[in-house]
Amino acid sequence: MTDFDSSAIPATGRDPEAILETMRELRHHDADWRSGKTWSLVYSAGEEHSAFLKKAHNEFFSENGLNPMAFKSLKRFETDTVTAMGKLLNGPETTVGTLNSGGTESILLAVYTYRQRMRRKKPWIKNPELLIATTAHPAFEKGAHYFGLKLRRAPIGPDYRVKVGAIERMMNRRTAAVVVSAPHYCQGVIDPVEEVAALTKKAGVPLHVDACVGGLMLPWVERLGWPIARWDFRVDGVTSISADLHKYGYAAKGASVVLYRSMDYLKDQFFVATDWPGGIYASANVPGTRPGGPIAAAWATLQVIGEEGYLELTRKGLEVRDRLIAGVQATPGIEVFGDPVGTLVSFGSTDEKALPIFAVADALGAKGWHFDRHQNPNCIHATCGASNLQSVDAFVADLKDAVAEVRANPGLADQGDAAMYGMMAKVPARGLVKVAVRRVMEAMYAPGATDPDLSDLAANDPLLSKLDEYGAVALKAVDKAKEKLGALLGR
Ligand SMILES: Cc1ncc(COP(=O)(O)O)c(C=O)c1O
Repeated sequence: MTDFDSSAIPATGRDPEAILETMRELRHHDADWRSGKTWSLVYSAGEEHSAFLKKAHNEFFSENGLNPMAFKSLKRFETDTVTAMGKLLNGPETTVGTLNSGGTESILLAVYTYRQRMRRKKPWIKNPELLIATTAHPAFEKGAHYFGLKLRRAPIGPDYRVKVGAIERMMNRRTAAVVVSAPHYCQGVIDPVEEVAALTKKAGVPLHVDACVGGLMLPWVERLGWPIARWDFRVDGVTSISADLHKYGYAAKGASVVLYRSMDYLKDQFFVATDWPGGIYASANVPGTRPGGPIAAAWATLQVIGEEGYLELTRKGLEVRDRLIAGVQATPGIEVFGDPVGTLVSFGSTDEKALPIFAVADALGAKGWHFDRHQNPNCIHATCGASNLQSVDAFVADLKDAVAEVRANPGLADQGDAAMYGMMAKVPARGLVKVAVRRVMEAMYAPGATDPDLSDLAANDPLLSKLDEYGAVALKAVDKAKEKLGALLGR
């Protein structure tokens, strides 16, 4: 190990080769995506594509998209990418939008835009609301939090799609926008966009479809012949869509678009400061300085992969999905949740008590697999892509072994990460969970914290060490209340 103290700027610069070597060594314990063992976070279209992408990115490494007049190349890349995405998602000729740093920025901008639109159109409404499907990405909650909208969550049905009746009931004169997903990340299913759009259109409320993960996946799945209910700009009433190039678009990280049906929406996204001594400052996105690399790479990616390339990558992703689903179905005790239309798959236990899925997740994690753990219901989430083709059969084999291991030893649910995730998922006092997670964040961002020992924290922090006790008390209280209610209702 050639590690050195890097917590201060050295008096004289170090040897560049030694620095690069140390960086490579520090990567040693990172999630292993190159061998297909990672089922989230990285979308890879292979080494050859990565090599090209790096070249395209490096060409514009120093350029700055802050001023589109200074770097006309970047403006062209952005406009072409927005236009191409608008065509892919069947937008009208009037479709406009911006290229942003990621899904979260696209979403924050949409939330901001709809709040501004409400201020412009209905200035008498002082407390605007954002009505989202419960499964919509937390970036919408973040947006509502940042921009001061009240967040309302419409429940989902047993098929994990938002209940249309709930949207109808919960929409009101304060609703700045409604949000559904195509698909949502949780179970990979598409909300009933056409039905929701019929309601929002009638009420004159904007409808945002979050296709951050689906925008460059569902169109190809549809072209490959899968029956998919309409969800994009073909649906009258859809006013905006977020779609990420850095997910199934296989662009470099830092690229997503937010598209609007017309300038009548986008204009509320713009920010202009006129009184700064540094000059007039106009901005369409959240950041000031905008790295040229990801903008250039996004444009180059669409051009180098092309429709045929995307169809091939999607075909491979769907094969991974099919093999994974078949593996889950052939393993007694676990099942796929929902009916995913694309390449996102969530699976969990048919009986959480007999087979706690987070213990299965721990056993898989110990074998070097990386994936997300979801809650309500507890499940393992796999983002399937072409890069998992090399590893899906090994994953299924390890999954079978992990299920057998936990079946033989259900006590594993009370150990390791499973205990923490299990408790966090089931404690009914969500405020308590929020405080606990904030404590973890404080530890992660404490001065000099590079690799905080979370199990140490969980054992010694006065709240975290007692979370399971507090959680058990809260659970008992809920059970008691349910019992009392049952007795009152004569059940
Ligand atoms: C449906 C959906 N929306 C939004 C996002 C947020 O995207 P980002 O992580 O690029 O900010 C994600 C990320 O997985 C997502 O799946």
